[in-house]
Amino acid sequence: MTQLAGKHIVLGLSGGVACYKSAELCRLLVKAGATVQVVMTEAAAQFITPVTMQALSGRAVYSSQWDGRERNNMPHINLGREADAVLIAPCSADFIARLAQGRSDELLSLLCLARPMERVPLLLAPAMNREMWQHPATQRNMEQVARDGAVILGVGNGEQACGETGDGRMLEPEEILEDLAAQLSPKTLAGHHVLVTAGPTFEAIDPVRGITNLSSGKMGFAVARAARAAGAQVTLIAGPVHLPTPRGVQRIDVQSAAQMFDAATGFASAASVFIATAAVADWRPAQASSQKIKKDGSGDVPPLAFVENPDILAGIAHSRRAESGELFCVGFAAESENLLDHASAKRERKGVPLLVGNIGPATFGQDDNALILIDAQGHREIPRASKQALAGELIAEIARRVPVRD
Ligand code: CTP
Repeated sequence: MTQLAGKHIVLGLSGGVACYKSAELCRLLVKAGATVQVVMTEAAAQFITPVTMQALSGRAVYSSQWDGRERNNMPHINLGREADAVLIAPCSADFIARLAQGRSDELLSLLCLARPMERVPLLLAPAMNREMWQHPATQRNMEQVARDGAVILGVGNGEQACGETGDGRMLEPEEILEDLAAQLSPKTLAGHHVLVTAGPTFEAIDPVRGITNLSSGKMGFAVARAARAAGAQVTLIAGPVHLPTPRGVQRIDVQSAAQMFDAATGFASAASVFIATAAVADWRPAQASSQKIKKDGSGDVPPLAFVENPDILAGIAHSRRAESGELFCVGFAAESENLLDHASAKRERKGVPLLVGNIGPATFGQDDNALILIDAQGHREIPRASKQALAGELIAEIARRVPVRD
């Protein structure tokens, strides 16, 4: 999450079993390049020790408004002024109630109240039993807190520490990290609807066999995540991949190129940006067998004939909306040699204003990559970096080429 590098985050812990997840969250924040100042309520210290949080954050934990370590003896003022964001995880039902009332009799709620609201966002990751979560008092308090400017990240659903099952689990650390990174990103694509295709397609031969390729979908998922962080509404059409859905993104799962074509052409009618990262199979078996093809003992191999799949990108790029400039199309080219030549020719063939070239065998399945951006004016290389960082650069590049909306 490149957006978190160099940021200073106050990580507040209120009481709850989910405090054990905050240790991992702290570790992920530090790994993403943020500095983390942990502040704990007295209740939080019943669930995890300040010693653990100090070791993981590399900074002494604050837990009292009477902490004399600050020169001016005002930790509640200093901590909020220094922060780029205040994140409360876990945020208990009681803590939400305290925020709703503007209470300030202990350090964490005090610093939330004293933070400069227009500059320092307050994010809450609630965690509680499902009955507590559904209780009208909690819901009412949350509405109030949201009206007062806090960002409520939502909760997960599943087994709870109390043995019950339902809504109220704290989001996973990776999910919270993603939401925080999005919160801190410039909203360069606000008002846009971005459509992304990602991953391989799977072309059935029979019910148990098929043809696919080595695309992992990582680049397309990173692009969808970066577009959402830039404030766009995002629809992600994914072939068969093993990746979690980026937060806040609508995901449509498909198998074959024909299904991807139908889904993409449908959503393209409302999108303003289309980014085709999918490694769509060029051909499919002419006739998929409805039953498993059996060996007949003769040693003969079954004859396989292929037909060409529709070109999703070329089809959409030649639509009325794309040609009139309402829909900005971006293609990818996975080549194995002569990247610039092949990718430049592909950009013209597909009829897209911007094409992203990369070397297929060097990127499929990897977490990093190197890209070359090609448009009518020329090309620009983006050196090897994580796919998430590259996706951020690509989205910034697209944002410079599409109209500002709001
Ligand atoms: N693409 C698509 N539908 C297809 C084939 C490709 O939408 N049936 C898109 C890909 O998502 C990518 C771009 O077209 O954005 C180029 O894909 P690539 O596989 O590199 O090119 P092909 O057109 O298949 O050409 P070739 O395989 O001959 O290099």
